[in-house]
Amino acid sequence: MGVRIGFLGAGLIANFHAWGLHRCGEAYELTGVYDPDAGRAEEFSSGWSVPRRASEDEVLDACDAVYVCTWTSEHPRLVDAACRRGLAVFCEKPLSVDAPGAAAMAAAVEAAGVTNQVGLVLRHSPAFGLLRSLVADPAAGRVMSVVFRDDQYIPVQGMYASSWRGDRTKAGSGTLLEHSIHDVDIVEHCIGPITSVSAQSANFHGLDGIEDVVATVVRFASGGVGVHTTVWHDVLERPSLRRLEVLCERRHIVLENDQLGPVRWTTTGEDEVVVEGDALLAALDERGVPRPPNPDGAFVAAVASGRPASPSFADAVRAHRVVDAIYRSAAGGGTPVDLEEMT
Ligand SMILES: NC(=O)c1ccc[n+]([C@@H]2O[C@H](COP(=O)([O-])OP(=O)(O)OC[C@H]3O[C@@H](n4cnc5c(N)ncnc54)[C@H](O)[C@@H]3O)[C@@H](O)[C@H]2O)c1
Repeated sequence: MGVRIGFLGAGLIANFHAWGLHRCGEAYELTGVYDPDAGRAEEFSSGWSVPRRASEDEVLDACDAVYVCTWTSEHPRLVDAACRRGLAVFCEKPLSVDAPGAAAMAAAVEAAGVTNQVGLVLRHSPAFGLLRSLVADPAAGRVMSVVFRDDQYIPVQGMYASSWRGDRTKAGSGTLLEHSIHDVDIVEHCIGPITSVSAQSANFHGLDGIEDVVATVVRFASGGVGVHTTVWHDVLERPSLRRLEVLCERRHIVLENDQLGPVRWTTTGEDEVVVEGDALLAALDERGVPRPPNPDGAFVAAVASGRPASPSFADAVRAHRVVDAIYRSAAGGGTPVDLEEMT
């Protein structure tokens, strides 16, 4: 038995979460899946041994907690339905197509008093956990500069094969919201709050409202400045790849790849250190940084115990506000936008 879990949406990320649950070690039971795409619903149902339901309501009526894994424009309505039933909810990022929508969802889960978690997965990345600890280390000094590049092939093709990511009515917008909201969240988590942004965007693929390049200059409250570039290209040989370089007063850090590095760093007066895979996990242990839990297991454990889950909808609202500020700046041709004025 354990926590009864339902799935709305049976696509790529739903399967990813079903896999995460499968290996999490918490007590749970999959009680239903619904997807209007009958083929996907059937495949998920047989693959994970979960009853295929005929409607959203049937899934919601049979569970204690629901995963909302549909395209973005459906998230607010489905989260609302979960809140009305008092169900715990794991909603994929982005919460909504814009920050006001995300804020309304955070208010709804708060008012309903339900456990809530969002799929900002980099919060559970060992590599970013290590980078965060290296930055926070007093030996590093203050952060002076951040250079963050995030690129992937435009996910209307390849393993994603999702036409909805090319449709602004379903995705809201392009690479910044759909993909790089992760970066905005993790960079604030690791470096601290962003106070202002100035951005330029471009649209090479010509999909209405779906930008495929955004370059942003940011200022951090701590005084440092950063540059972020996100690109949706057509190099199908390149999976989703991130590279983050942080220059502190007395430490240089480079992170590549989302989960297990490599992460390399050089500190004034010391040799360069490079860690990857198991060595990266060992470096976390040495520095006293807890290894990040399986996000799906952490969600089930939070639901079972009634403790808050993380990252929460409220965390995601902050990332949405920064994303909206970047879009506003780009729409104005790069005019700086102050985050204080956005809240
Ligand atoms: N956290 C991450 O790293 C990550 C990675 C990929 C996708 N995502 C997010 O997950 C969500 C889904 O992305 P995906 O890649 O799985 O897309 P996908 O196209 O593979 O699957 C989405 C599914 O939702 C279904 N759907 C649409 N409306 C529905 C409804 N009302 N009820 C039930 N099912 C419905 C569609 O038929 C489709 O099968 C998006 O918000 C996306 O941004 C997050």
